[in-house]
Amino acid sequence: MARTIGILSAGGDSPGLNAAIRAVGKAAQRAYGMEVLGFKDGFVGLMQNRYDHLDSDDLSGILTRGGTVLGTSRAKVHRMNVGSGKRVDGRKAMAEVVVSHQLEALVCLGGDGTASNALLLAEVGVPVLTIPKTIDNDVFGTDVTFGFDTAMMIATEAIDRLHSTAHSHHRIMVVELMGRGVGWLALGAGLAGGADVILIPEIPYNVAAIASSISARKAAGSSFSIVAVAEGAISQEAAAIRDSMVDQMESTESESERASIKKRLKEFGQTRTGGTVQLASTLAGLTGLESRITILGHVQRGGTPTPADRLLATRLGTACVDYIAEGIHGVLVAARGEKTEAVPLRKVAGQTKSVPLDHAWVNTARHLSISLGD
Ligand code: F6P
Repeated sequence: MARTIGILSAGGDSPGLNAAIRAVGKAAQRAYGMEVLGFKDGFVGLMQNRYDHLDSDDLSGILTRGGTVLGTSRAKVHRMNVGSGKRVDGRKAMAEVVVSHQLEALVCLGGDGTASNALLLAEVGVPVLTIPKTIDNDVFGTDVTFGFDTAMMIATEAIDRLHSTAHSHHRIMVVELMGRGVGWLALGAGLAGGADVILIPEIPYNVAAIASSISARKAAGSSFSIVAVAEGAISQEAAAIRDSMVDQMESTESESERASIKKRLKEFGQTRTGGTVQLASTLAGLTGLESRITILGHVQRGGTPTPADRLLATRLGTACVDYIAEGIHGVLVAARGEKTEAVPLRKVAGQTKSVPLDHAWVNTARHLSISLGD
């Protein structure tokens, strides 16, 4: 039997997924003569043994396409939704599928959730490797994820376009960008698009401080402002409540209390468009300027990947196949400068790569007197 590998995409889609599928598939076939099975809709399709043989025709013409030709889904491998609210541990079934096809490796294209799922599968003996994708750029252990550059380009273009209308109407334009619990996308696009205020989850904001920076701009003759806000940005008051809940959770002896705080924290941590709406209206009240809101949403995940994302996905995809050929698994295929590194999944799973407070982009924003809301 020919050497065979499997591949799937999991979690939210991200520009560059098809470039990665193509790279893994073509490198496996051309450099190592392997067969490639593409599992449908992420871990759900793996559990249900739904797959296609990917031949060269399937892998041609997909480099520039957004989304994923394999389909994707959000799932937890140890708590798979099987309908009617019932959840089962799907790991045994998935491992059996892998054995039945005699897969030498299973390549999972995904973000931090996928790294956790992959580790859980590795623990039951599945030879798994992950390649980091997500527009959030929050995967621990890699310099960058593919999808981020494209999302940043889309978000930057949106900010560029908001400038002329903000200027014409002397308004505050608040634009909410994705990124879940981290601020890479808002910070990158905010800087590249010349936003006047950038709010990220890592730096809780004070509305009065933002209003005073907007009023100072107005007094200096710029009667409009662009506020780029990450969907996970949080006010200082809300951050204080969150931190005290974390303290409470860490100090309690009671399992049930811990579970209840954990649940409240999860709700609390959910991204809040409502917060952006409230912020825009408070800023209007405090500055006397009109405000308008743009929620960019899933537009940031759509369409053609940039050359940088195609290159990254292709480079990581081909490197992944080299690792498989060397018998390496249980790793994330990480980008480290120009190099690629196999980082053990146990070092990656459950971790988030937030924006460090001393990151060059943060310092750059401060040098330009861009308000970070603190
Ligand atoms: O992780 C990528 C991401 O686009 C986040 O930025 C966003 O919070 C989330 O996915 C949205 O998820 P969904 O597509 O399931 O609504």
